[in-house]
Amino acid sequence: MVAGNWKMNTTVPEGVALARAVLERCGAETAVEVAVLPPFVHLWAVREAIAASRLLLGAQDVYWEESGAFTGEVSPRMIAGLCDLVLVGHSERRHLLGETDEQTGRKFAAARRHGLGVIVAVGETASERDDGSAVAIVDRQLDAVLAAAHRAPSPDDWVVAYEPVWAIGTGRTATPEQAQDVCAHIREHLTALAGASPRVLYGGSVGADNAAELFACPDIDGGLIGGASLKPDVFATIVAAAVTAGAAR
Ligand code: 13P
Repeated sequence: MVAGNWKMNTTVPEGVALARAVLERCGAETAVEVAVLPPFVHLWAVREAIAASRLLLGAQDVYWEESGAFTGEVSPRMIAGLCDLVLVGHSERRHLLGETDEQTGRKFAAARRHGLGVIVAVGETASERDDGSAVAIVDRQLDAVLAAAHRAPSPDDWVVAYEPVWAIGTGRTATPEQAQDVCAHIREHLTALAGASPRVLYGGSVGADNAAELFACPDIDGGLIGGASLKPDVFATIVAAAVTAGAAR
């Protein structure tokens, strides 16, 4: 899977144009799932723009309640039927907005109750990597998600994205070895706890120049792409790298 997290970028018309450009370049892709995650206000228009295509549509976040007095929040009921999937636990929500592991778990469970696929983002900060606790942090974040799920989620229903915080938007990508090590650990950890692991993506400064070597790693099943997902030609090159890596397995 290659998923483009547009974050808080583009107006609605710009987002529709971007979705059309991605559709033109990647819409016929069958070997790799390609997803776009525009801002909430774009979802309806982008759904129309990519209707009847293989592209998946995702939201960047969701609240855990069904409805009620939660000003500004968006419930899974509102996006089920519109989106195929939703991202929870992105580091920008954890670190800029103070979301906890427990809240991320509640979001995961709420999204699953509505049949949405879920991308769960996990990853350590620079200081956590420096003090040797990267893997412990990732385990803690994943364990909170499993604890919130009523039963172990099927590997088809979710995807984990390993995004080291120090590699996001910094141009400082994890080396393939660093990314592979943590992604392999995630797979082992989830297999031990839940019997099976979902796909594991890497995210953090993925671009046209490094996608192929990252996706060639045996435990990296694709990418969650930020900045480069706003450039359709670059995004298409990243998707093509995932197709090549998949064919070589
Ligand atoms: P960049 O690709 O811009 O580093 O962002 C990664 C990311 O946070 C995707 O969710």
